[in-house]
Amino acid sequence: MLDRTGATPQQWQPMGDAPPDQSPVPSAGLDQVEFGARRVTVDDKQMINCRADLNQLVPFKYRWAWQKYLDGCANHWMPQEINMGADIALWKDANGLTEDERTIVKRNLGFFSSADSLVANNLVLAVYRHLTNPECRQYLLRQAFEEAVHTHAYQYCVESLALDEAEVFNMYREVACVHDKTAWAMQYMDSLGDPTFRTGTPAANRRFLRDLIAFYVVFEGIFFYVGFVQVLSLGRRNKMTGCAEQFQYILRDESMHMNFGIDVINQIKVENPELWDAGMQAEARDMIRQGVELEGRYARDTMPRGILGLNAGMFEEYLQYIANRRCSQIDLEQMYPQATRNPFPWMSEVIDLKKEKNFFETRVTEYQTGGALEWD
Ligand SMILES: [Fe+2]
Ligand SMILES: [Fe+2]
Repeated sequence: MLDRTGATPQQWQPMGDAPPDQSPVPSAGLDQVEFGARRVTVDDKQMINCRADLNQLVPFKYRWAWQKYLDGCANHWMPQEINMGADIALWKDANGLTEDERTIVKRNLGFFSSADSLVANNLVLAVYRHLTNPECRQYLLRQAFEEAVHTHAYQYCVESLALDEAEVFNMYREVACVHDKTAWAMQYMDSLGDPTFRTGTPAANRRFLRDLIAFYVVFEGIFFYVGFVQVLSLGRRNKMTGCAEQFQYILRDESMHMNFGIDVINQIKVENPELWDAGMQAEARDMIRQGVELEGRYARDTMPRGILGLNAGMFEEYLQYIANRRCSQIDLEQMYPQATRNPFPWMSEVIDLKKEKNFFETRVTEYQTGGALEWD
C-alpha cells in the first residue's frame, strides 16, 4: 500500500447520479455471438459504451488508431540489441562516474522499472476494458507489449551493471521522490481496483476520462521527462551510452503512447461533449499543475547539484514548457505563459529519431524481423 501522500485506493462511488447499470459490461467483446445479426457499420462504433460487436477490427472508423498501431510495429526493437559493454566498463571503473551521476542512473532505473509495470497493469486491467473500440484496442495491445519491452530494458540494464535489483525495484517504496509520483498515479486507478466499476453513467464516464488524463497526459506525458533528459544527457556526454540508447528508444515509444492517449481523450470529448465542462477542465489543469510540482521535486531530489550542464532551474522551465504543450494538446489554455522556450531542444530530435541512424552513433541498428528465426 502506497500511503505516504495519503493516497488510499477508494471504492468507486457514483458521483451524484444513478447507480451504474449492473448488467454485464456492454460489448466487452465477450457477448454471445448473435447469428445472422446485422453487419457492423462505422456508425455503430464509439470510443466508450459501444454496443456493437468488438471482435471485428474493420470497417475502420478511427484510422489514426490503426496508423499508430502500424507505426508502433515499424519501430520494433528489443533491449538485447543494444551493446552494454561500454556501460559495464564505465560502471566498474571507480573513477568512471561521479556519485551524482551514479545516483541519476539508479534513481531513474528505480522509477521507470515500477512505473512501466504500473502503466502496463492499468492498460491491460482497466483501460482496455473500458475503451470499446477495436482499432484502439489493437493499439493498446501493441502498447502493452512495448511496456513489457521497457520493463525488460530496465531489468537488462540492472543485470548488465550488476546493480542490487532489490534496491532498484523497491525504490518506489523506499525513496520519497520516486514514491510520490507513483502514489499520485495510483489515485487514478480506481477503475482498476474496483471490478464493479463500469462506464455508462455521466459520473463514471467522467471518471474514466479523468483517469486517462492522469495516465496519458501526466504520468506518461510529464513524469517521464526529467528522467529522459537526465539519462540522455549522460549519453550526450558519451557516458552510459547503452543505458541512454535504451532510454532513447523508450522515449520514442512513450511519445507515441502519449499522442495516442491524447487522440483518445480528444475523441471521447468529441463524442461526449457534456463531459468536458468547466469542472472537468479545472480538474485537468489541477492534475497537470500537480504533475509539474511533483516532477520538479523529483528533478531537485535526483540532482541536488548542477551536473552535466543541467540544473534545477532548467528543469522547472522545461516542465512548464511541456505542461503548456500538454494543455494545448487537450484544448486547455496554457498554464505557464512565461515558459515559451524549450531549454532542451535536442529532446525533440531524439523523439523524431529514425531507427537506422543512432543518436549517439554507437552503432547502426536495423531490426531483423525474420533473421533471428531458425527453422528445423
Ligand atoms: Fe513504457
Ligand atoms: Fe508508455
